[in-house]
Amino acid sequence: MMLSDVRTPREPAELEALAPILAWAFGMSAQDSLKWLASTGLQHVRMGYSAARVVAGLVEIPMGQWFGGKSVPMLGVAGVATAPEARGQGLALALMRALLSEARARQFALSALYPATVALYRKAGYELAGAYCRFTLPLKDCPQPRSALALRSATPEDDAAIERLYRTVASERNGYLDRGPYVWARVRAPQGEPARVLVVEGSAGIEGYAALSQLRREGIHHDLALGDLVGATPGAMARLLRFLSDHRTTADNAIWYGGAADARLFAFPERSFKIEVQTHWMLRLVDVASALLARGYPEVTAELDLFVEDDVLPANNARYRLRLRDGTPELDVAASGDGAAARLDVRALTALYSGVVTPAELVRAGMLSADARTLAALGRTFAGGAPAMADYF
Ligand SMILES: CC(C)(COP(=O)(O)OP(=O)(O)OC[C@H]1O[C@@H](n2cnc3c(N)ncnc32)[C@H](O)[C@@H]1OP(=O)(O)O)[C@@H](O)C(=O)NCCC(=O)NCCS
Repeated sequence: MMLSDVRTPREPAELEALAPILAWAFGMSAQDSLKWLASTGLQHVRMGYSAARVVAGLVEIPMGQWFGGKSVPMLGVAGVATAPEARGQGLALALMRALLSEARARQFALSALYPATVALYRKAGYELAGAYCRFTLPLKDCPQPRSALALRSATPEDDAAIERLYRTVASERNGYLDRGPYVWARVRAPQGEPARVLVVEGSAGIEGYAALSQLRREGIHHDLALGDLVGATPGAMARLLRFLSDHRTTADNAIWYGGAADARLFAFPERSFKIEVQTHWMLRLVDVASALLARGYPEVTAELDLFVEDDVLPANNARYRLRLRDGTPELDVAASGDGAAARLDVRALTALYSGVVTPAELVRAGMLSADARTLAALGRTFAGGAPAMADYF
């Protein structure tokens, strides 16, 4: 079986053919899967046809992702599914290839996803980029700092300031999402129920906020699930921690998600919190030249000369000479790789780009061979700390 067509549904009724496939793939009811597909917007759904029958599908989520302080256009991918009777025939890979070509034509530089199988997405050119961790913090052990800052419930008028604050803080961490409406909707209304949003106000306006909801345990006991816990200043974070700890008679834990390194944990005097890896996220350079030019870099001087191989998106097959002058990139792209200092697969370049491993680690993994000068230049260029992602999509 092969895909004869990949396209967006023309009308909502067409989603009814994909909903049962998604429902079966992800253990949901057909009704919930239809609701989810409809909520993402028809233009973001792709249906894969074999002859006239829908046999596979996925959802794209356009957004950005922060690297080096700049938002790089990124296409998120979710809900990849093939009908059970049509699996094992290359349909999901064909669907991913079609989406990636389209994403490149639409000028997305990156794509990211949470994989249920790494093998499928490696074949499509993605590589692991970071762990998505669950933090569980017993509130009885939460510090109770004092803060003079005021805390109040947010109103719709605060939305713009909240989004600004999120962007400021997220832009400082490689891998954080420059959220679009889909992810913001999940933060504001997880599982469709509105979250409680509170803001911390200082003399210059909103300095922090929390978006949270309750997860029921037994009787009156519950946990606090944090969609966001953002303190732009130490005072704002102290106020938010105090707010959390003030729940400790009936709320057992605060729970949030993100990358394993989290400066918020520095406030805790003991290692009472638990960190568990829930899953990993993967990244792909969809357009190598745009990805190299759109991101920010440390203020270093370096020269790279790389020949990149990409058998899924052949337009990426090229020699890239990247020069950084005090962090400002200049790029020459040539078709021939003759004489390039290093040759590497697009997945290896993705691993360097995300910062998830160092060049030396990639050499040990057999994914890169380069001279010492190139390794040092790669290290300087892609320095910036382990990447993290705090939102599931
Ligand atoms: C995962 C899924 C989408 C794969 O669909 P498919 O059409 O059978 O996949 P393909 O035939 O295109 O597989 C391409 C490659 O992906 C990998 N792959 C596919 N299914 C896999 C599985 N179940 N486990 C591990 N690797 C798998 C293989 O490397 C395969 O290549 P190969 O056949 O040459 O070994 C399908 O099994 C499914 O719908 N599963 C339930 C939902 C799900 O897990 N979706 C992924 C969410 S991120």
